[in-house]
Amino acid sequence: MKAQEMRETFIKYLIERGHKEFPSASLLPDNDPSVLFTTAGMHPLVPYLLGERHPQGKRLVNAQKCLRTDDIDEVGDEFHHTYFEMLGNWSLGDYFKNESITMSFEFLTSVLSIPICKLAVTVFGGYEEIPKDTEVYECWKNVGLNESQIFYGGMKENWWGPAGKTGPCGPDTEIFYDTGKEPCGDDCSPLCDCGRFVEIWNNVFMQYNKDDEGHFIVLSQKNVDTGMSLERILAVYNHVSSNYGTDLFEPIIIRIEELTNIFRSKENIKSFRIIVDHLRAATFIIGDPKKVVPSNTEQGYIVRRLIRRSIRHLRKIGVINNILHDVINTIIEINSPVYPELKTNKEFILEQIEKEYTSFISTLDRGIKKAEHFFNNISDGGTLTGELAFRLFDTFGFPIEFTVELATEKGILVDIDGFNSKFLEHQEKSRSSAEGKFKGGLADNSVQTTKLHTATHLLNSALRQVLGDDVYQRGSNITPERLRFDFSFDRKLTNEELIKVSQIVNEAISKNIPVECNEMTVDEAKSLGAIGVFDQKYGETVKVYSIDGYSKEICGGPHTLNTGELGSFNILKEESSSSGVRRIKAIINY
Ligand code: SER
Repeated sequence: MKAQEMRETFIKYLIERGHKEFPSASLLPDNDPSVLFTTAGMHPLVPYLLGERHPQGKRLVNAQKCLRTDDIDEVGDEFHHTYFEMLGNWSLGDYFKNESITMSFEFLTSVLSIPICKLAVTVFGGYEEIPKDTEVYECWKNVGLNESQIFYGGMKENWWGPAGKTGPCGPDTEIFYDTGKEPCGDDCSPLCDCGRFVEIWNNVFMQYNKDDEGHFIVLSQKNVDTGMSLERILAVYNHVSSNYGTDLFEPIIIRIEELTNIFRSKENIKSFRIIVDHLRAATFIIGDPKKVVPSNTEQGYIVRRLIRRSIRHLRKIGVINNILHDVINTIIEINSPVYPELKTNKEFILEQIEKEYTSFISTLDRGIKKAEHFFNNISDGGTLTGELAFRLFDTFGFPIEFTVELATEKGILVDIDGFNSKFLEHQEKSRSSAEGKFKGGLADNSVQTTKLHTATHLLNSALRQVLGDDVYQRGSNITPERLRFDFSFDRKLTNEELIKVSQIVNEAISKNIPVECNEMTVDEAKSLGAIGVFDQKYGETVKVYSIDGYSKEICGGPHTLNTGELGSFNILKEESSSSGVRRIKAIINY
């Protein structure tokens, strides 16, 4: 079976059981400042799992683009990926444990004809005041599993969520497939990680909301959130020994073999898998409707790491030429029938990946020179310090394994522990900066930033009034001291224009206009003429902040209650930000 047939089979099965299909959301989540990527199908559904009414009802199904950076080091084995597709079905306060388990079981054993004896499941075994899930245990017995196929796990194994810091979560039951590999011992079960059992589906019973203080609050609405990896179920169904043997990957590997005359073997298979996984992920991130450019921060940094790691592995298997253009084209061909954004953004994706290749290849050569310089100062059998290894990583993008490989050729060791501690220090720093920066461009929620945020909306509409409707927000960064606003416009603003813009903002402030917030669907927001990022998600409700006569914008907030709270608005600077994008820095005085 091919991937598309598997998607269709799954979705049809759930539609026949009263579910409504909705499209995949962007890989970059809208409403969660604590994560960089959509990591599960439930992510875009958080408001509905917490009780908001979904316009398509209480039973939903879809295939969602997901990305998990936590799994990056596992990539190279048979079943792990960074980017993957999650097939999921949801009950928003409708059916619960029994019906969910019955449907999953029937889909696997009747629709896909997987023998019952090949399945094993884990069930939540209880934690502190949260009881063992005996109800789920009984459900599995009732559908036909033997007790020898059912295992209780702990919090680590059988509790899922929240996806970010707070949100819906609950006990789960995970369904595994027995690959038939040798058991690792008498206790071999889905709870060990020897690789004999592969997890294919997770049914989460979202009964709790984790709040800011880490408490689990019982939800009045009991939900089901399930997720199954398309890549894995396809491999299991087709009896191929790894996800890479499916039509989602096989044509990409064949293309690399054709282009290079280098063929996969036991020695290089891990590199082949890393290359195709990472390039596929990079294609989806860059080509997302929200478009991402490789950079040194946030999502841009992840995509840079993925591309660089794949280039390193291409070199490792012996590929010298730049074959990325053809490989990326193959990835786009395979996926664009289902994800047309890849076709729409094809030129952009190819251009960004080429740019990254060119810049990394140049640092690669300079980095190798630098590494040789370091090695020359170390005698045979000596050790490269963790700090220098980290410098090669940080300045030239050399992963530690690559440095170790180069050092080994010279008979030199590398202080990997020293590298790791430098690396952790660095990771800690970048994590806190990613978390701090994510709140829609707000550094914090202080009174000052909130005021500057409202001023930013006024500025945005004033710019459109003075310069025309082709002006769109391209970025925003607000600290308690100042606002910084990037917008599309292709020349320097004249003094008159800047004065006009300031006047409009100050006029709105002097009129003491209430700032109103209303929730509505994207379609309603559009018909009211609101500006902002319109996502393709059907029926999703959004917040629209309105300042009568001046501004109407889709936004997550927060804002002041009245424009009169702002004080006088002053533009400090207008300059170029990048090609076709201008930047204004402004403050409010009191
Ligand atoms: N959210 C759960 C998971 O990611 C089920 O989809 O495993």
